[in-house]
Amino acid sequence: MSDTEGKDLFSKFDEVIAVREGLLASGVEDPFSLVMERVLSPTRAICNGRDTILLGTYNYMGMTFDPDVIAAGKQALDDFGSGTTGSRVLNGTYQGHKACEDALKEFYAMDHAMVFSTGYQANLGIISTIAGKGDYIVLDIDSHASIWDGCAMGNAEVVPFKHNDIEAMEKRLRRIPEGAGKLVVLEGVYSMLGDIAPLKEMVAVAKKHGAMVLVDEAHSMGFIGEHGRGVAEDQGVIDDVDFIIGTFSKSVGTVGGFCVSNHPKFEIMRLVCRPYVFTASLPPSVVATAATSIRKLMHGSEKRAHLWENSRTLHKGLTDLGFKLGTEKPESAILAVIMPDLERGAAMWEALLKEGLYVNLARPPATPANMTLLRCSLCAEHSADQVETILGMFERAGKAVGII
Ligand SMILES: Cc1ncc(COP(=O)(O)O)c(C=O)c1O
Repeated sequence: MSDTEGKDLFSKFDEVIAVREGLLASGVEDPFSLVMERVLSPTRAICNGRDTILLGTYNYMGMTFDPDVIAAGKQALDDFGSGTTGSRVLNGTYQGHKACEDALKEFYAMDHAMVFSTGYQANLGIISTIAGKGDYIVLDIDSHASIWDGCAMGNAEVVPFKHNDIEAMEKRLRRIPEGAGKLVVLEGVYSMLGDIAPLKEMVAVAKKHGAMVLVDEAHSMGFIGEHGRGVAEDQGVIDDVDFIIGTFSKSVGTVGGFCVSNHPKFEIMRLVCRPYVFTASLPPSVVATAATSIRKLMHGSEKRAHLWENSRTLHKGLTDLGFKLGTEKPESAILAVIMPDLERGAAMWEALLKEGLYVNLARPPATPANMTLLRCSLCAEHSADQVETILGMFERAGKAVGII
């Protein structure tokens, strides 16, 4: 290297590059560049020319092909064009954005709703704006990247605690200096293992210590709780939660994010939250599909019951086959099958794909405790027959790869 030559800024990725090259050199198909050639329904797509059952999407309630949702999107395209070309605070608020926020307020029975362009931006924006320098954020160590990034962006003191450990959380809260601003950040469902948080106890502890509480219900909206409002509803503490964050990219079946709240000053967020102000708003077709989907999810109790049935059947079937799962009982629509290592995880992923089944291969740093997981996420549109077919595929692939 000459004196004037700078350091290669890509050198920090060398380890990731080596792991990836090592994996591909084993001859396995790249698990992170699969193409969905055609999507036939919420549960089926053509991948590598093969009809494939989808068991690795976040389409929990199967809304992506709902005829009313699609019709609303087409109508909005015709009536309002393809995009807003502007921020929500300038020319980017259409009646569709307001209608979408009204649907959210009704869905959650809350006073305020703010729609962001993604769930990532909702966490980034809300967390960084309400907890700044000198404030404290107490959060579960397994929190989603968007939560960590929101903490970093706001420059607050970040105090993580062991996953789902109520005592550890309280210990951290006790140590915060008196008078400091405190925000506790939790998730309803943790998406890697599919386990839920003990929100009833945690929210009570947070309140006892005078902290505000934000719960990310990305993976529970539409499915968990009597009205599909999430784990906080299911555990009877939704009224004590100050901010619920959610996304349209899972049960709602499109893209976008939101925060709902009863805080009397919440509307000021629209002027002070940078990831809301300094980005273009969602296209009219997207907010129209989201609003229609959210309103239909209010009447989704039959779908919710069928999805629970699917989750129970698959959990029992995989356990009976000898697979090790992330939770002892089914706690959500996500079932994580724990793989012994990345190599066998990738081989199993490929064997399942050849059987005609798509699942998510997840590995560190996204996963806790360095685990390699095959994450299965169920859909309310999976039929009982499809679940049986899936179990047969897991049995054959598991035996071929030597995992069971
Ligand atoms: C817990 C959690 N929060 C937020 C997000 C971000 O959602 P979006 O896809 O809308 O950006 C995700 C997405 O995977 C998530 O799992």
